[in-house]
Formats: sequence, structure tokens, C-alpha cells
Amino acid sequence: MRDNFEVRKYDGAGRLGKLTVPRSGVTVETPALLPVVNPHVQTISPAQLESEFGAEILITNSYIIYGSDQLREPAVEEGLHEMLDFSGAIMTDSGSFQLAEYGDIDVTTEEILQFQHTIGSDIGTPVDIPTPPDVPREQAKSEWETTRDRLSTAESVDTDEMLVTAPVQGSTYPELRERAAREAAETSLDLFPLGAVVPLMNEYRYDDLVEVVAASKRGLPESTPVHLFGAGHPMMFALAAALGCDLFDSAAYALYARDDRYLTVRGTRHLEDLEYFPCECAVCSAHTPTEVEQMDEDDRHRLLAEHNLAVSFGEIRRVKQAIQAGTLFELVETRVRGHPTLVDGYRTLLDYAEQLGTTDPITKDSFFYLSADSARRPEVNRYHDRLERLDVPEHLLITTGQHSDRYDESWRLVPPFGPVPRSLSDVYPLTATRPERLDNAAYEAAAEGVARLVESNPETTVTVVHDGWPDGVFTTISDTVEIHDYKLEEQTDDASDRDCNS
Ligand code: GUN
Ligand code: ZN
Repeated sequence: MRDNFEVRKYDGAGRLGKLTVPRSGVTVETPALLPVVNPHVQTISPAQLESEFGAEILITNSYIIYGSDQLREPAVEEGLHEMLDFSGAIMTDSGSFQLAEYGDIDVTTEEILQFQHTIGSDIGTPVDIPTPPDVPREQAKSEWETTRDRLSTAESVDTDEMLVTAPVQGSTYPELRERAAREAAETSLDLFPLGAVVPLMNEYRYDDLVEVVAASKRGLPESTPVHLFGAGHPMMFALAAALGCDLFDSAAYALYARDDRYLTVRGTRHLEDLEYFPCECAVCSAHTPTEVEQMDEDDRHRLLAEHNLAVSFGEIRRVKQAIQAGTLFELVETRVRGHPTLVDGYRTLLDYAEQLGTTDPITKDSFFYLSADSARRPEVNRYHDRLERLDVPEHLLITTGQHSDRYDESWRLVPPFGPVPRSLSDVYPLTATRPERLDNAAYEAAAEGVARLVESNPETTVTVVHDGWPDGVFTTISDTVEIHDYKLEEQTDDASDRDCNS
């Protein structure tokens, strides 16, 4: 592994980074989108990808070029950059995807890597085996062993300055993915694509996708660049970035356009179902859906591809800005509302709050509590862990109201965090902004915080005073803790006052 990736800033496991690509001497800012360029038919030219959409890197298929009488010669003679007319970084795939689709390809890892090197690729790929989801474990394991052998072959091919990827396979077996990732990282290879996830995305299995990514990430050292193979839908960029994926490749922009499908950050729409274009890009500003529908096929597909690219690159910029501002989780929470299966993906991601928390910055500008899911964010989890280390007095009041002299100290009771010493009130994430009308999850998480504090301080007597929190949220707290609902007690006091006066 070379020292070719540098992280500048984290949010969760999401990060802004720089990938240095030595062969053409360029650096690529990550998260980055690699448009897939079909070497035969280019809906949008690589030059246009670069000048109009700001593509710093693209991906094309060396196996298609290798097998084509028209393309092979020019690629060898001129090199890929000249042939495609692109000055950024060029990554090449190996034909593994064709292998998965058609069952057989007639090239070895050695041959295709040498060919990728010959045609001037910046980042080459060995012939890994993309094992589909749900196959028997033995198959997943034995195919991964083949992939592992190919990685080992790849290490011994002289590829000079070309970076070489080490795809991570293992089907839908998290422990296999983790092991595959760990062993891939032990090679001298440079970049780590997570493979065979396209079927999961096609079937909207975002929960399984998150399991696969989270497991692979556990096997990889923190500072390794990770590519999510075939992830081209902008609705899932924020989610994948929050898990720590740095590179995405998109054939979707062109494939969907050819099907008259229109990408949005909230999902896919069919052109014929649109009365208005919900987008600000040049295409959508200049045309109506009806106009585009009436164009000839080539123009229609080109315009849809341009829109699809504009949305995809725009979303990558939004993800980058969100990491920069420390608001990636807020963006993810918004994006996953585009589809219920993405909500499942997000909830699965939150199962790994602790894993994501290891790189999450200690402080950010703001924490917006947006839904019950926010109660499971890494910041809440981390605060609960931190509670165990706080000094507590003998008699502690934890209250949504005022201090009382009857106790040594009073701390604030703050959903979803729980007990907050007054000295920490202005410290992130305890400065979170919440809706007035909270869900039970916020109160339950706060109660969990109280429970954690009580468990780690058995000597302290704790009294909790809240203002009308829902019944039942305090069930996790030991019954040695006195809990008062002062709203309820006020009413009872009022009632007994009235009784006395009458
Ligand atoms: N493109 C999409 N998925 C894969 C994969 O698993 N391996 C390779 N090499 N390319 C892919
Ligand atoms: Zn548009």
C-alpha cells in the first residue's frame, strides 16, 4: 500500500480526502464520482465530462478495449488519455463484471493488468470474482480465495506507477467481507473497491448493502481509499459517504437516460411521469418534460444524461459541503426519506454508531435532532459512553427545571442525551437543536443516559425531575432513582389546593 490517500476532514466515517494518482500526476478530491465511459458509445464525451461537469476522474473498461479490433490499436498507440481526450485520472476495470454477467472471459489478471498499464491507465484492476448475494457460504469463500490469489498475482505484475485496486468480495457474509478486506489491505495494492454490490442496489437492499460496507470497513485500516463499485445513484451517495466510501462510479447516468429515466436525489422518475422538472440544471431550466419527450431519441437521451450527470455531480458537492460543515448526518436523514428501503439502510448504519464514532469529530457546528433516528447518532452514543467518566456528587438532581438547594448539584435533563452537567451545556453536541414536539425515542435515549450514569455511580443518590415526559420512558432506570413528573405534581397540588379552599 502506498501513501497516496490523505484525509482532510471527517464527519462520522465520511471524509474529505485527496487521492494522489502518480501516473498522471493529478490529485482527485474525494468523495469523487467516476462517470463510466463506454469506449464504444459515448453519450457524453470525456472532454465534456471534464469541462462541463468537473469530472476529475473517470472509469472505463479495459476488457472491452482489449477485445475490440477498432479500439485496441489506438489505445496502445495513443494511450487512453489521448484516445478518450481526457486529462484527469483514468481508472480501468478488468472484465470481472463481464465475467459475472456471461460466466467466462478469456483473459488472465496478468494479461489484463499488463494491458491496462500499456494503454496508460492510472488505476488498474485485477480479474476479481464478483460473487452475487445470498450464494452458499462455501461458494462465497472459495470464490473469494480465487480473488485473493488474483490479488497476489497482481502484486507481482510490474505495473510501475499505475495504482492497482484490490477488490473486496465475500457476497453477503459480513465476516467473510471483513476478512477479505483485511487480507486485501495486507497486500501492496493501493485502492479498495467493494465488489458485487450492484445486485443489492438494484433490489433496493440498502440494509444488506450497509452490512457489507460496514463489515468491509472494519477490515480496512482507516486511511485506505474505498470505492463502491457500481454505485451510481445520487440518492445513496450521502449514505455511502457516511459509511466511509470515497469513490463512486456511475453508469446510471447513461443507462437510465437510455431508458428515459430521470435521476433525482429522491429516486428515479420516468420522463413520461413528469409534468415539471424538479431541478435547476441547465437542461431542466431550458426545457419542459414535454419538449424533451418530443425530441428525437439521440437528443432526448443526451439531455437526460446531462441532467443525470448534473444531479449526480451536484449531490457529490452537497455531500462534500456537508462533511465540511459537519452536517452529513442531517443530509443522510433527509436523503433516506426518498425511499423506505433507504431508511432501513440508515437504521442499519446506526447499528454501527460506535464504529462510525471512532472518526466522528468531537465538535461540529450544530446537531439537528430531526427524527427518532437522530437519537441513535454516534454523537449520542459517544456522550453516553462519556457519562461514565464524569464526576458526580453524593446527592444529584437531574432536572428539566431549576436547581434546588436540597441537592449537592443539579444537572440538566436533555433529550436525547440525558444528564448534562451545567458546565457542559454549551459544548457540542449538547447544544443540539430539537423540535418542541419530541418523539419517544428522544426521551428514551435521555433515560438511557440517566441509567448509564446511575449504573456507573452506585454510591450516588439520583433524583430525576421532568416536565410531563411520556409514561414508560424511564423503564431502563433502576428503581433506586426517585422520578418526579413536576407537571403532574403541579396539577395534583392545584387540585388539592382547590379541595382545601372549597
Ligand atoms: N463493477 C461492478 N461490480 C464489480 C465487481 O465486483 N468487480 C469489478 N471488477 N467490477 C465491478
Ligand atoms: Zn436537471
